[in-house]
Amino acid sequence: MTKYLIHGGNSLHGTVQISGAKNAAVAIIPAALLVDGACRIENVPQISDVTLILQILRELGADVRVINRTTVEVDCSHIRNRQVPYELARKIRASYYLVGALLSRFGWAEVPLPGGCDLGGRPVDQHIKGFVSMGAEVEVRNGLIYARVPSGARLSGGQVYLDIVSVGATMNIMLAATLAEGQTVIENAAKEPHIVDLANFLNSMGADIRGAGTDVIKIRGVGRLKGGSYSIIPDQIEAGTYMAAVAAAGGEVLVKNVIPKHLDCITAKLVEMGVDVEERDDAILLRRTGALGRVNVKTMPYPGFPTDMQPQIAAVLCTAQGTSVLTEGVWDNRYRYVDEFRRMGAHIQVDGKVAVVEGVDHLTGAPVHACDLRAGAAMIIAGLAAQGVTEIDGIYHIERGYETIVEKLADLGADIQVVSVPDEDNQAQVG
Ligand code: EPZ
Repeated sequence: MTKYLIHGGNSLHGTVQISGAKNAAVAIIPAALLVDGACRIENVPQISDVTLILQILRELGADVRVINRTTVEVDCSHIRNRQVPYELARKIRASYYLVGALLSRFGWAEVPLPGGCDLGGRPVDQHIKGFVSMGAEVEVRNGLIYARVPSGARLSGGQVYLDIVSVGATMNIMLAATLAEGQTVIENAAKEPHIVDLANFLNSMGADIRGAGTDVIKIRGVGRLKGGSYSIIPDQIEAGTYMAAVAAAGGEVLVKNVIPKHLDCITAKLVEMGVDVEERDDAILLRRTGALGRVNVKTMPYPGFPTDMQPQIAAVLCTAQGTSVLTEGVWDNRYRYVDEFRRMGAHIQVDGKVAVVEGVDHLTGAPVHACDLRAGAAMIIAGLAAQGVTEIDGIYHIERGYETIVEKLADLGADIQVVSVPDEDNQAQVG
């Protein structure tokens, strides 16, 4: 087993390059199922969630070619198999996009219920509501989602009002509607940058999608999509994570290859805490020298403060002066990391969706567990700012979504390394 070992206390200096967006990549790659011909996808992050989704497409018979470190070519013209392997699908949330994509292309899908981070209940009722509004019959049984179009091979356009703003349901319905007959309208749609990115990808291959980025998206079905080239947007959350790391550890860092507009809400909170932030065209310069002030943060769908930055901002607030209040507005259970922070000396009380963080003078290094992807990133941030040594296990969660995070932080001057620990040691700790 491998762990991250961090000797805290180094401030961060230099430049960090942000990779392509995970939550765009894991939707755009399955969207290649809709395309007749080869899709060249650029700025693909090298993370394990992407490896998994590419592996699923290979299992289905897609021709996947790795062109270079950040570019893949996916050709789904000759898909042989439409059954998605359980062992792969259960490891990743984004496997649910295969339902929309397969249903759109073949009128039939059989996909295991998805996995992903444990953030409380993660129902898919809104995805199903969308497929049903397009004429599909959908059933969930024996751990599988069965969806099919009873009358023939194609879905027909539908009208769907999402009862809850859902990123996954919005993208899945967009996928299903792209090759449907007629127009589909999604109301109360999510507006995250990766939704716009998926729409741009599909449109660049010949789809007709309007309104992505607003709460009403109209998709007029087209007969076919043709191959082409597309470059994925930079990862808003990876960028935010490095911004939070600079705020917590101090220093001066240029965060490059970002879309500053996507980071507005994160920037606003860091400025409120006393961090200097300077926006450039495709970069953000951060400088933190003095003490941090308290802030309140409420997570919301975009353009609100992203839930996927909530644990990382909590890590920063652990050593801010005063008491901050965090309110989680998206997930039922996203404070599972708090016990780990307490092991490092943080003062945090949680009551339902609210966490009260009372800033302490400093955190102290400790062995901690990364219980999910963003919680793991938050452990790293806490470890960078803490006095002493922090040892993080469960790092496979972190590697699902952060490309070469150890190398990127070490380049900024952090004392962080990957260490191998014998499995017996792991057993002893778990027991
Ligand atoms: C996506 O998850 C992201 N995952 C999550 O990022 C992110 O936290 C989330 O959007 C919110 O921004 C991917 O893109 C792969 P939702 P998703 O559907 O699509 C409820 C990360 O760290 N809901 O927007 O699964 C749901 O329970 C991950 O990168 C229903 O009730 O999230 C939640 O409370 C973690 N019924 C809320 O909606 C449904 O059918 C938002 O969920 C669907 C969702």
